[in-house]
Amino acid sequence: MFWHALVVGALTSKSYAMLRFPCSQLVTERFDPLVTPGQVSPHVHQIVGGNAFNLTMDPSLDLPNLATCTTCRFKEDKSNYWTAVMYFKHENGSFMRVPQIPNHFTGQSYLKYGYYDIRSWALTFRCWDTFGSPVDSFALPDRACNGGIRSNIFFPSCWDGKHLDSPDHKSHMAFMEGDVGPDGIFFRNSTCPSTHPVRVPMVFYEIVWDTKIFNHMWPKDGSQPFVLSMGDPTGLGHHGDYLFGWEGDSLQRAMDVCTDVSGRPADCASELTVLTDEEINSCKLPPMVNENVEGEYLSALPGCNPLQEGPQSATMVANCNAVSTTEIRPTPTPSA
Ligand SMILES: *[C@@H]1O[C@H](CO)[C@@H](O)[C@H](O)[C@H]1NC(C)=O
Ligand SMILES: *[C@@H]1O[C@H](CO)[C@@H](O)[C@H](O)[C@H]1NC(C)=O
Ligand SMILES: *[C@@H]1O[C@H](CO)[C@@H](O)[C@H](O)[C@H]1NC(C)=O
Repeated sequence: MFWHALVVGALTSKSYAMLRFPCSQLVTERFDPLVTPGQVSPHVHQIVGGNAFNLTMDPSLDLPNLATCTTCRFKEDKSNYWTAVMYFKHENGSFMRVPQIPNHFTGQSYLKYGYYDIRSWALTFRCWDTFGSPVDSFALPDRACNGGIRSNIFFPSCWDGKHLDSPDHKSHMAFMEGDVGPDGIFFRNSTCPSTHPVRVPMVFYEIVWDTKIFNHMWPKDGSQPFVLSMGDPTGLGHHGDYLFGWEGDSLQRAMDVCTDVSGRPADCASELTVLTDEEINSCKLPPMVNENVEGEYLSALPGCNPLQEGPQSATMVANCNAVSTTEIRPTPTPSA
């Protein structure tokens, strides 16, 4: 799991505020300007947000000025958000990208912002079932979920107050400490550790994968057939990234005003410009990596990532005829 610097600015602490909003997909491709800037990433990500997203994102770039549109609900939010992608592995060895629900266009990702509370873990999966209460797990559910699988990715929300980055890109931030509340999320008794006393808005991604459409092809040996784009069949390596791109002080203004527990965009319309579905769906970035990543069965995961359970580091396959992960420009490597 990779965590990267949240640009926090001068955000003040508040007891409660939340923005909860959907984003449609901007582009899906092997890009990760934070982990592999200038190179085609080893695995596929789905990216939402402003259309200034690129293979390289210099920290000095002014996203709100560069982006002309966003796939997220608020016009002021030219940030980029990205996560790994889920694939279904057919028993015959082919892979198909798992689509997302509730809506192919506006529900591709579901993002929450807020002075929100966090569990002591950063990453969970929820099996949506017709029967019983949903159960959260750290690994991908080992059974067919009738309503799909939701993955939750929490970002740390306590800052050391001093460093905008750190050598490992994460130790300047920490997760909150405290009890898990009754609903698992709203536990307001949690606090930031003394080493990281400054509370900043917490970024939290909810992504619902429409795994149910593959349940009729569940493997005969009973093994669960879903894998993440890195070749992770456990789910434990799920990850998300974030690049701050809110215009001016718009996020701070929203945090000061949008204190309704619903987090609905309409409740924040006094501070932020709420875009229509048509507006966010019309913001698109053409993929720059010349390969198919979705919409058809693929003979291998993009990047040729083999399925590896870990915990040792994953290895890469050389000469798989995938687009290079080391070239500055995304050009195909010759076959071996
Ligand atoms: C991405 O970067 C390339 C190379 O610098 C540039 O030509 C292209 O216009 C950029 N795309 C966007 C959307 O900024
Ligand atoms: C595996 O099955 C899918 C679905 O029937 C099919 O589209 C794909 O071509 C098959 N792959 C192989 C290698 O047979
Ligand atoms: C917070 O802690 C107080 C005192 O222990 C307790 O009464 C209250 O129920 C807790 N609130 C939540 C949301 O857990």
